[in-house]
Parts: sequence; C-alpha cells; structure tokens
Amino acid sequence: MKVLITAGPTREPIDPVRFLSNRSSGRMGYELAAAFVREGHEVLLISGPTAIDVPERADFIPVEKAADMYEAVDQHLNRMDIAIFAAAVADYSVANVADNKIKKDPDTLTLALVKTRDILGSARSDMNFTGTLIGFAAETENLEQYAREKLTRKGCDLIIANDVSKQGIGFESDSNEVLLVHSDHSEALPKASKHDLAHQLVRTILEIHLHKSAPAG
Ligand code: CTP
Repeated sequence: MKVLITAGPTREPIDPVRFLSNRSSGRMGYELAAAFVREGHEVLLISGPTAIDVPERADFIPVEKAADMYEAVDQHLNRMDIAIFAAAVADYSVANVADNKIKKDPDTLTLALVKTRDILGSARSDMNFTGTLIGFAAETENLEQYAREKLTRKGCDLIIANDVSKQGIGFESDSNEVLLVHSDHSEALPKASKHDLAHQLVRTILEIHLHKSAPAG
C-alpha cells in the first residue's frame, strides 16, 4: 500500500527570527509511519520540524509552513492509497511577514492573522483524492460530536479523536487514549503507548481500506 502521513507542528513566520507554532511533538505521526513501514508498506512522511528521527525506509519531505505542507500534499496525494493527517497544522498564519527583525519600539504589538488552507479539508474537494482518508481531532469538549462533524465535513473514513484536556495523553506525551469515530459507530480504545497504539491503528486503517476497496455485492 502507498501511505501518505502528515505529522508534527507547522511554523508560521513572524519575521526572520520568530514564528508561531504549537506543542505537537510529531510522535503519533512518526509512530504510524514506522508501523506502516515495518509491515511492508510504502510510506511518504510530510512533516513539520520535530526532534524525532525519520523512520528508516520512509520517504520524507520536511516542511515548515502550513502553505508548504499543503503544496507537498497536493503534489503527492493522488498516487496514494491511504492518507493520514496527523499534523497539527497552524489554523492561522501571519498576514504580513516582516522582512526584517521587528524591533521592540511600541509597548504593544498587534499581529494580523489569516486563516491557513485546510489541507485535510481540501483532500476530497480540491485535490480529488478517492483513497482512504484519515483525520485527527484534538478537542477539549464534546469529543465525539465535534469529531463526527469533522468526519462528515472533511469527507474522512475515520477520525482519530483525543481529549487534549486530559493530563498524560496526547500532545507532548508518549501515550494516547483515543476515540475512533467511524461513519457508522464509535469505539473508545484504552490508553496505550503511542508505539502500541500505532500498530492497532494500522490494523484498523487497513481493514477500512480493504472494506472500502472491495467490489460491491
Ligand atoms: N488539518 C489540516 N490542515 C489544516 C488544519 C487541520 O490538514 N489547515 C487537519 C489536521 O491534520 C487534523 C484535522 O485537520 O487531521 C483536525 O483539524 P482541526 O484543526 O482540529 O479541525 P478544524 O476543522 O480546523 O476545527 P477546529 O480548529 O475548529 O477544532
């Protein structure tokens, strides 16, 4: 199977030395990439900056900005069987990136932000992807409801949702506790290391893919 995975945070520049970013470690996406590679699949990992080694035998495109991640995904998505969007993409970028370092003259500074393009949300509509599409949802409330809305709105086959208000899971942690939101049901998985969870997710994602690709009747 050919599998594209986005991972890590993005960095949205403010000026030549500063950026806006988030707390994503990239661990879940990298564990998924490693698990697919171990099971013999062809993986393309498109990732923002992380401190993790790229899994051996995975193809790798490093990116910084959300706009660069969009371009890289757009270029490669259509030859993929499965696409998994684990990246914590910045929802906003700085409207006017300063050419020179901003000096601290004024007492307050206001940055105008503009929405970035939703990469996962463009996979079906703008990029015409017909393969198996998996998204993530990080929520602090109404986990299942918000994840299900994302599943429908972004045309996904599965949303892997986690409650980021819980301590010890998700962002900056080695473990995770996720709710799998399928089109017709949801399933809560017990807390597990991201390594073990990745293997379980690979099995689930391959099952969804085979079921989706099986001829009807
Ligand atoms: N995502 C993406 N491109 C973006 C923003 C998000 O590909 N510009 C993907 C993430 O990789 C993840 C999913 O969309 O798989 C979850 O995105 P999220 O930001 O939580 O969803 P939104 O629809 O932006 O909703 P909200 O921020 O309001 O929760």
